[in-house]
Amino acid sequence: MSAEDHAADRCAHTAAPAVDLPDFPVPSHDPRAVSDAIRPDARIALSSSRAMVLLRHVDVVAAARDPEVFSSAVSRFLQLPNGLDGEEHAAFRRLIEPYFTAERMAALEPGVREAARQVCAEVTSAAGVGTGAVGCDAVGELGSRFAVRAMMRWLGWPAGLEPTLLEWMADNQTATRSGRLDATADVARRYDEIIRSVLAPRRGRGGDADGSRQDVTAELMSDRALGRPLRDEELVSVLRNWTGGDLGSIALSLGVVLHYLATHRVLQARIRSGLTRRELTAIVDEILRIDDPFVANRRMTTCPVSRGGLQVAAGQRVVLNWTSANRDEEVFGDPDRFDPDGNAGNNLVYGTGPHVCPGRPLATLELCVAVEEIVAAFADITLDPVLRPERSITPNGGFSSVPVVLTPAR
Ligand code: HEM
Repeated sequence: MSAEDHAADRCAHTAAPAVDLPDFPVPSHDPRAVSDAIRPDARIALSSSRAMVLLRHVDVVAAARDPEVFSSAVSRFLQLPNGLDGEEHAAFRRLIEPYFTAERMAALEPGVREAARQVCAEVTSAAGVGTGAVGCDAVGELGSRFAVRAMMRWLGWPAGLEPTLLEWMADNQTATRSGRLDATADVARRYDEIIRSVLAPRRGRGGDADGSRQDVTAELMSDRALGRPLRDEELVSVLRNWTGGDLGSIALSLGVVLHYLATHRVLQARIRSGLTRRELTAIVDEILRIDDPFVANRRMTTCPVSRGGLQVAAGQRVVLNWTSANRDEEVFGDPDRFDPDGNAGNNLVYGTGPHVCPGRPLATLELCVAVEEIVAAFADITLDPVLRPERSITPNGGFSSVPVVLTPAR
């Protein structure tokens, strides 16, 4: 059966419009609390903007793996490759995936490690000579600074851009919190300007990369995997999705991981005792499953869906709630039970299906190296006894700040 026949077969169903669905309130603090409360009794909830929020693992996986019915073309803005479907999407994935091979990640590792060491040293020296324990925010200071530096090393961006990117991250968080469209549009426009300022010096005559800079950004500018060079707005979009994925999610993820280690001392001690990269990766992935900061992605149905009791009309906006699916009791039992190896096969932190995160190898490298260097630099990580961790607000999960106390290693 061709892909078209297959889709037509599934689209032959009719689906009644959703009725009697519970509301999915905008989470005011921990997004897990909202979905944990609804999920035992309902598989779908209705958001305030009338999107259907899929809460169960089985439904999120089915939708993510069925791009003909659950289209990713949900935004009026160019989103490469996130907003593409079908062959157009596959072509962009063929362009992108070679940038994340194991060989490239191995070559990048020393630079990422150096970035992590620098940030740990700066946090220590900021506390002053002779000071014992050091207080800092695991997201705003450690996480953000490390994320920016590691990303700039990967892409070959100038070190002088660091303050601009850090300021932009803070403004982006404020704009997201405000929920104001003009504020989020403004930070998005500013980010595009930052990217264009990086592209400009790499341009030679004829608008092509001049070849004088050998870095990932220059390579992308001269990439012909589509049979032609990327157009300007395509380059900006690809880089926006790489760096957007990188900066925010790495800082948030590091906050979640350090919060978990500060509150799970046996695990912290186990990591200090020395682990293989495979073991550490499984631990980091499992911590992020339990408290997934990358909450959701959107889809739009191309036809009615009626399957296993799930009824969704055509043209319906759908939300794949990864955070909820990653805590589904039907799959994981007690969602807070820590079982890196047992739960790995069902872990949805990096998505599934054709849009599965291409940046996973880079994210894994950055998070593992950061954890390795932080436990090497600091003999103990605890939560600050006075300042409270602050949860991010929708659309993000995790924490906007995790005040920790770090005891420098001797
Ligand atoms: C802890 C860090 C990260 C998490 C949790 C994460 C999670 C995800 C998830 C769940 C998706 C699936 C989206 C969907 O199905 O609609 C995704 C897609 C994507 N991620 Fe990540 N990501 C992370 C880091 C990164 C990094 C470091 C990059 C690149 C440098 C990146 C680039 C992308 C891109 C381009 C897509 C879209 C893929 C497509 O549509 O085909 N991500 N990510």
